[in-house]
Amino acid sequence: MDDPLATRLQKLDIDEPGIPECFPSTNPLDAYRIEIANTISQLSHLQPHVIYPLLKRYSSLDKGDLSLPVPALNIKDEQPHILASRWADQFPESPFLFRPTLSGSFLVFHFKPKPLALRVLPSVLKNRTGWGSNPLLGLKDIKDASKGRKRIVVEFSSPNIAMRFHQGHLRSTIIGGFLANLYEASGWDVVRLNYLGDWGKQYGLLALGYKLFGDDKALEDDPTQHLYDIYVKINSLLDQERAEIERLETEGKDATKLRTEGLDEQARKYFKSMCDDDPDAISTWKRFRELSIQKYKEAYKRLNIHFDEFAGESFVQESSMKSVQDQLEARGLLEESDGASIVKFSKHVSGKEGRALKTAVIRKNDGTSLYFTRDLGALFERDARYKFDRMIYVAAAKQGLHFNQLFKLMELTGNNELRSRISHVDFGMVLGMSTRKGTVVFLDDVLKDVGEKMHEVMRKNAAKYALIKYPERTADILGISSVIVQDMKGKRVKNYLFNIEAMTSFEGKGGGPYRGPYLQYSHARVCSLLSNAGVLASETESANLDLLVEPQAILVVRLLAQYPDIIQKTLKKLEPVTILEYLSHLTHAVNSSYDVLHVAGSEPELKKARAALYEAAKCVISNAMKILGLTPLERL
Ligand code: ARG
Repeated sequence: MDDPLATRLQKLDIDEPGIPECFPSTNPLDAYRIEIANTISQLSHLQPHVIYPLLKRYSSLDKGDLSLPVPALNIKDEQPHILASRWADQFPESPFLFRPTLSGSFLVFHFKPKPLALRVLPSVLKNRTGWGSNPLLGLKDIKDASKGRKRIVVEFSSPNIAMRFHQGHLRSTIIGGFLANLYEASGWDVVRLNYLGDWGKQYGLLALGYKLFGDDKALEDDPTQHLYDIYVKINSLLDQERAEIERLETEGKDATKLRTEGLDEQARKYFKSMCDDDPDAISTWKRFRELSIQKYKEAYKRLNIHFDEFAGESFVQESSMKSVQDQLEARGLLEESDGASIVKFSKHVSGKEGRALKTAVIRKNDGTSLYFTRDLGALFERDARYKFDRMIYVAAAKQGLHFNQLFKLMELTGNNELRSRISHVDFGMVLGMSTRKGTVVFLDDVLKDVGEKMHEVMRKNAAKYALIKYPERTADILGISSVIVQDMKGKRVKNYLFNIEAMTSFEGKGGGPYRGPYLQYSHARVCSLLSNAGVLASETESANLDLLVEPQAILVVRLLAQYPDIIQKTLKKLEPVTILEYLSHLTHAVNSSYDVLHVAGSEPELKKARAALYEAAKCVISNAMKILGLTPLERL
């Protein structure tokens, strides 16, 4: 198909203006940015690469498509609003752009609809599931693909075996799954890593608990539940023991026996025996671990999430922890405190920052490692194993201090380059997460509960319900979509209230299109329109797109044009809400066009053109949903 903008842009060597992150072949907005940057450059004698990065996309399209904030160009001697108005007047007639308008001292650009539709729709229909992805973003060297792709390790979910898969793990799972998809769509080589909490004194305690309360049958039937029950019981005994010690000691009595023979000490010894590779201790622990992983895998499968590796704290080699410890020692960072080895940050980092970083314990006085020590060792092991260009830890904001200490130690030991490749992607808390029957313990309980709720909602419409082929599976997917979308509704760091009623409602109050069922409904609706239209997907390729003239059609095309730019932008802040917000605009625009843009009953040529539009919209809705981790439903 003849694409005049592309032909014109082909003549531009994209590298020549020295513009980084400019991908006109996959991102239509970038093509317009080049066009505008070149034109303004001719009017102003500024270099295109100075103008280009300032051209921002409007999220609300009633304002325009792109804007140029003239004050941001920092031009001396001339007032920005005067310059803006002069450039608007002088802007030459263009086949692609209307003459810019002014908004204060901003220049506002509107794309001409026909060439835009011509550029965007055939490209979506040709690339389909690949549309919006940009494999170039992940290249090590953009000019030389043979140098390979960049690799990212996304460490996420990371629950603690035998303990609650709590809200934090659910968020880490959802956000991490999304980030992995996002990087994959951007051409990176992604390693999905689950770093299980599976090591430490608490697993010594759990083994003791199993001796007291364990039941092999119950363990096989529902390992996570049974281990959790045991964990609760043994911890309550431990609490009693601690209270008793305190009572004795405040009364001036001797608590030595409890201190040296009590549960706490037994757990410590048991863990020590695990560290020393005691075969019995290790085999019990292994069993707990494997059964827990099996159970997690079922939940991950429902969530559409897979891992390349189930690693864990237990995998971290003593030798790697030792070698980090040697580095700390060599730099004079370690000191002794009651037989333990610690780093006091305030001694090595000045001022407020040093105080905020507090103290990190590197080794306990019995020589065993801690959560922190294992993270230090794991970092170097992963660097050696994966040779990553980037690694992100998806973990609760509450762990901020832990990661800040970790990152600071990398700086203090001169590992600045490694430090520059790692980051903590954090998130706030989920408040009030409980099933309708009570407090949530496990992820599958939440998913089951939300799925059941969705099933109830679906049953309310008996006529529709009767048409659904797999009601249970549909309810399950809708339930999961509700949970995921609710989680992504705000910025990551925000806490939110877990609200089953609001997240599962199809309509009414509670977040408008920011709801899983709404997105699913929108996708299914466009699918059913297309299957009823009787136009073959292949026929849409020859559609006469000039027939798409209604404002509703034009709005959808302009929104579709934005999608690759949205993905590119999301890579910067790593906020799922960026994509969700976009999806809500797009689904809203598509849903509002059905009354005007009829397909069935229209003239054959018009029918084809509109089917092409809806087909492209369906592709983009589906692609965006999949990146978020949703499974788009074709029927509801
Ligand atoms: N297992 C930890 C927890 O449940 C989360 C692990 C986060 N990742 C890490 N490398 N420390 O709190």
